[in-house]
Amino acid sequence: MNAFRLASQMGARAATAQFKSAGLRSTTAAFNSNIGAATAASSTFNNNTTTRSISTSLPTAKAPALHELGSVDHGFTDDRVDRIAEPERRAFTYLLLSGVRFAYASTARVLVVKFVSSMSASADVLALASAEFDIGGVAPGKTITVKWRGKPVFIRHRTPAEISGEANVSLAELRDEETDDDRTLKPEWLVVLGICTHLGCVPLSGAGDFNGWFCPCHGSHYDISGRIRKGPAPLNLEVPPYKFTEETKILIG
Ligand code: FES
Repeated sequence: MNAFRLASQMGARAATAQFKSAGLRSTTAAFNSNIGAATAASSTFNNNTTTRSISTSLPTAKAPALHELGSVDHGFTDDRVDRIAEPERRAFTYLLLSGVRFAYASTARVLVVKFVSSMSASADVLALASAEFDIGGVAPGKTITVKWRGKPVFIRHRTPAEISGEANVSLAELRDEETDDDRTLKPEWLVVLGICTHLGCVPLSGAGDFNGWFCPCHGSHYDISGRIRKGPAPLNLEVPPYKFTEETKILIG
């Protein structure tokens, strides 16, 4: 405040002196000018005073930088794929993802194939599913018994008389109507399962009232075509699937 007063007084004195020498108007202008100078001086004083007061009483706090705050997760900015600036990185990402999915698909396919193949029959089972027999040594009028899938199979080499006799049997005489021609591939060869259709016994060959097969369990009689002719059995002896691979070789199954 003392400085302000001093500046005001000096300005007033200067204005008075100028008023006396140069006239009222110019003096007034100088006075105003001096007043302005005094005001500026006062403002400067006040500013200096204020600056000193702030600098001593309220020090400014500097905001810390981001890296000064400690651990900061930069994963978003560091690992982010810039699709415009890094097109090759996007291609690599697509390649990686598609490769992993292809590996998954291949593994799933292998597992499915192995699972399905495990449900199919193995090689040894398939080998037992069919069996080939050489019947060239079977004389006419004789019957051999072979094993197929654990079951007995009768193979009879029939004579011309037996063939004609079975062909002439009337269907009206049969319980299970079936012609002899329908039960054979070649008339001289009869192939039937050796299991009685009553309760599963194995009939005896060349026995019974019809010279075919006789089941002693309950007395069923089969003719030389394997058809049931007498007894409790309801059906003819079953003809298995078979074919001739050669003139005297037969494949059953
Ligand atoms: S099982 Fe052959 S007649 Fe009963």
